Amino acid sequence: PAGKTNSSAPLYKELPQQQRKAGKIVVGSDISYAPMEYYDTDGTTVLGFDKELADALSKQLGVPFEFKNASFDGLITSLKSQRIDVVISGMSDTKERQASVDFVDYYTAGAMLLVKKGNPENLKTLADLCGKTIAVQRATTQEGYAEEQSKACEKDGEKEIEILSFDRETEALLQVKQGRAVAGLEDYPVASYNARTSGDGADFEVAGDQIEAGPLGIAVAKQDTELRDVIQKALDAIIDDGTYKKLIDKWEIP
Ligand code: ARG
Repeated sequence: PAGKTNSSAPLYKELPQQQRKAGKIVVGSDISYAPMEYYDTDGTTVLGFDKELADALSKQLGVPFEFKNASFDGLITSLKSQRIDVVISGMSDTKERQASVDFVDYYTAGAMLLVKKGNPENLKTLADLCGKTIAVQRATTQEGYAEEQSKACEKDGEKEIEILSFDRETEALLQVKQGRAVAGLEDYPVASYNARTSGDGADFEVAGDQIEAGPLGIAVAKQDTELRDVIQKALDAIIDDGTYKKLIDKWEIP
């Protein structure tokens, strides 16, 4: 049954001692990032692609993944100080983060502009944002792209971008909805989900092309190479047996 150790799971014997003893793998995640991870209306059940990916991996590993909600900008610190075993949070595997943690990559996504339905400002590229106000989540790759672009705007003799940064993606989204920002910049699966679902599809649309597509990964502390390698094996197994593809389809991950 879910939530229990299954010592006859295919990869159980390869799990590090620590997680076998604990009987679980503790996941740090910012659980407000649909469709990757978010709370059901009961406020306690975790839903989403990342959650079901973790459940599928746990069938291979024989111990459950336990999600702990945390703010996105503190996840890597929590990992390094061993308060959590892994990060699964739609986190991009970047060069900068690789300096402090390892990744098991599980998806490729770029960033996407999310604008009001009808795209009233006719925004298509990052360069179109010079002199405008946009909303992003703090400490994300998207915030980084916006900052970089803002510098480029200035260099080209245009006004910089006013970047509003928020602890949660949902707060950034609200700014766009209420017209305080002309666009949000989000991972493509998230922008696409918001465009599809918010106001039954009437609130937003995605604009332009994907920006800077790159891997999303499960982050593991540098010293936990055994854990990293067995998670990689579990991922390979669920890709091979078709489970992974089913989850991509179920959650309409573009
Ligand atoms: N992929 C982006 C990054 O790694 C944003 C991820 C935000 N994830 C979340 N659960 N809020 O910076």
